[in-house]
Amino acid sequence: MLYQLYVRSWRDSNGDGYGDLRGIIERLDHLTWLGVDGLWLSPTMPSPDQDWGYDVSDYTEVHPDLGTLDELDALVAAAAERGIRVLLDLVPNHTSSAHPWFVDAASSRDAEHRDYYVWADPAPGGGPPNNWLDATGRSAWQWDAATSQYYLHNFLPGQPDLNWWLPSVHAEFREILRFWFDRGIAGFRIDVAHGLYKDADLRDNPALPPGSSRMDGRFGLRPVYNANRPETHSVYRDWRKIADSFTPSKLLLGETWVGDLDRLASYYGEDDELQLAFNFPFAFADFSAAALADVVAQTMAALPPGACPVWTASNHDIGRFPTRWCAGDERKARLALFVLSTLPGTVVLYYGDEIAMTDVEVPAGLQRDTMTLGGHNPQGNRDRARTPMQWDDSPSGGFTADGVRPWLPLPVPWQSDVSPSNIPRSVARQRDDHSSTLWLTRRLLALRRAELAGVGSMLEILVATKDQWVYRVGPLVIAANFSDQPVSLPTAAGDVLLTSSAPDWQDRGDPMLGPWEGLVARQPDRPLP
Ligand code: NOJ
Repeated sequence: MLYQLYVRSWRDSNGDGYGDLRGIIERLDHLTWLGVDGLWLSPTMPSPDQDWGYDVSDYTEVHPDLGTLDELDALVAAAAERGIRVLLDLVPNHTSSAHPWFVDAASSRDAEHRDYYVWADPAPGGGPPNNWLDATGRSAWQWDAATSQYYLHNFLPGQPDLNWWLPSVHAEFREILRFWFDRGIAGFRIDVAHGLYKDADLRDNPALPPGSSRMDGRFGLRPVYNANRPETHSVYRDWRKIADSFTPSKLLLGETWVGDLDRLASYYGEDDELQLAFNFPFAFADFSAAALADVVAQTMAALPPGACPVWTASNHDIGRFPTRWCAGDERKARLALFVLSTLPGTVVLYYGDEIAMTDVEVPAGLQRDTMTLGGHNPQGNRDRARTPMQWDDSPSGGFTADGVRPWLPLPVPWQSDVSPSNIPRSVARQRDDHSSTLWLTRRLLALRRAELAGVGSMLEILVATKDQWVYRVGPLVIAANFSDQPVSLPTAAGDVLLTSSAPDWQDRGDPMLGPWEGLVARQPDRPLP
């Protein structure tokens, strides 16, 4: 089980309003108590922060706001003592325009690093070389007056895309991988893993057919030529060899932002590319029994034998599932945690998921995310899911020192009942209550470890209707009621181990599943699927 920790927002140890590495070391107990196996740290490398660390200016250092290389080493060592491995966020699709490679590249057409980036002349009639758009919907080409060419940026102009056709770029990243692996980093979450190579002829992207989903493309175009190029797989085959040359092997987890599950499966290769790939069709599925059962079944059918699926429903881009899926309703969030924790493969929880933390409305004047500022981005404002971890009910939320203004706000008004279903939730309050969501998450992760470790990634769907989903994984049967009505259990459940609503099923003595309730039972006599 992996835990995505947005470093700037988790725990501020030095009172500057930003979370930091020392803050993580101080709160490792929380992760051990919860049952976390691995951490994915959101960007930790130096950056001008036009995209909060996803614009890297030095790949082998630590951002001074967050700490030092020594502190990162100390975190890795302290985590290892608790059996927790640490993954870093690696951004190979683009650098910051402040990276020395780009500064040099933009200095002249003959510069040593010129070809590290994608440069092009204007189209024959003038203007950008093709129709590619960046993540904000504007042209992906920035004119560089000094050298009279455009450069490509699939994200912000401050994030120039690297040219992966150039062998030197491969060589640089091999060195970067080895640098961190030698330091004890357990692997990487790879940003824009489906990006990297771009069409060599810079062909126009085709129009998006009407009725396409948000995963198929954006701003009216299908990303056929500026992403998802077949050559990208060679990079992962190469990196996998490096990862496997370490003992234990290092982990490559891709941010594979693709809507097609067969394409997702392709990033696993023949067990020679990524070991894990994020499944966005799952994250964007409707929160209904039918939709989830469908995407889970399709995922299992698409993935190559032995491949490990990844289940996640919140992150720093798409928002938090207790809001997206559940509109703040804690019963639904508990059911979602129930499902996430009982699917075979790897579950990735986002900080705060364990307390069903919801998105926070960040007033326009306090927003910090340049990419989604101004509301033109289809993802909406991303700051809403990057606000401080809600540790306790003190004025600072336990995130920073009292009186310090956190970089993004806590829910307003903190400590008051905004609406019955959206009371700001905190770790401290839930630690005191054994029936809380925090305790449920802990129980679920313990159960996952005890019952599902080593069962492989087989899942059998027994029932999937509009509202009810029953599936079997290893020795467990999971029944989930996605409706406001109680339902009777469709099959004899076996020994009930846990329900999403109450810690102890036996106490209730009720053969029905309540509204938005999940149940997990063990069927010891059933053969494994
Ligand atoms: C995906 C990251 O998750 C997102 O936050 C970032 O803006 C883009 N990649 C660009 O690096």
